[in-house]
Amino acid sequence: MTAEEKAREELVPIFIMGKRYEVPRSLTIQKAMEYAGYQLIRGCGCRGGICGACGTVYRFPGSYKIEVGLACQTVVQPNMYLTQIPFFPAAKSVYDIQKIKPSIETLMKLYPELLRCLQCNTCTKSCPMEIEVMDYMAAAMRGDVARLAELSFDCVMCGLCTSRCPAEICQYNIAILGRRLYAKYIAPKAEHLASMVKEVEKGRYEQMLRGLMDTEEETLKDLYNRREIEPEQADEDWVPKDKTYL
Ligand code: SF4
Ligand code: SF4
Ligand code: FES
Repeated sequence: MTAEEKAREELVPIFIMGKRYEVPRSLTIQKAMEYAGYQLIRGCGCRGGICGACGTVYRFPGSYKIEVGLACQTVVQPNMYLTQIPFFPAAKSVYDIQKIKPSIETLMKLYPELLRCLQCNTCTKSCPMEIEVMDYMAAAMRGDVARLAELSFDCVMCGLCTSRCPAEICQYNIAILGRRLYAKYIAPKAEHLASMVKEVEKGRYEQMLRGLMDTEEETLKDLYNRREIEPEQADEDWVPKDKTYL
């Protein structure tokens, strides 16, 4: 074993829900929890920093500061006291996107608690994605749907901001309303997508899909293994040689 590998394997103490464990220092919190014997059924989804299921808070002895991270992305540090917050109850309005408008009135009607925001910035400091949460909340209060959508684009809906908001606001549900309004009413339309949806509705892929469903598993595996793969550094206008279904 090289010195580097040895260092990676070195055990460090961490505290999961108050109980002490020793885990290799190279592991993420998620892998460390599994190493310690936890079976993650909730609070674990994509394992790639996308789904937001693994929000985690931690603290170090002697520090006043609450740290946050996604368990699948954050590497353990010695003496961290941690717990996951895989779910936090959140207020969620129900609406029909076809019947609402991208306006301040819509935001205020669906989430009137917006006006309770104290501009304390706790949400921004709680966000593992380093999103300027307070700024997108300010955009929501101004009715600036485009800015709300833009600033919240990377939100993974982990709920950590909501768990700490002194005004009891659910920021991420307001943000997703903003992104839906933006996509529906403000963003330029993707004409090529609309025409492709029409083609699909007309049954363009029906025969091909039926053919695949009638194909033996082994043949499917073979087809899959022989498929043409887009090269990693492909040009933007790359298309496969077989254009039958484009
Ligand atoms: S934590 Fe709540 S009150 Fe504070 S800035 Fe964020 S949304 Fe406003
Ligand atoms: S804005 Fe809130 S819900 Fe979204 S990623 Fe940040 S902390 Fe999580
Ligand atoms: S498991 Fe999906 S973000 Fe961590």
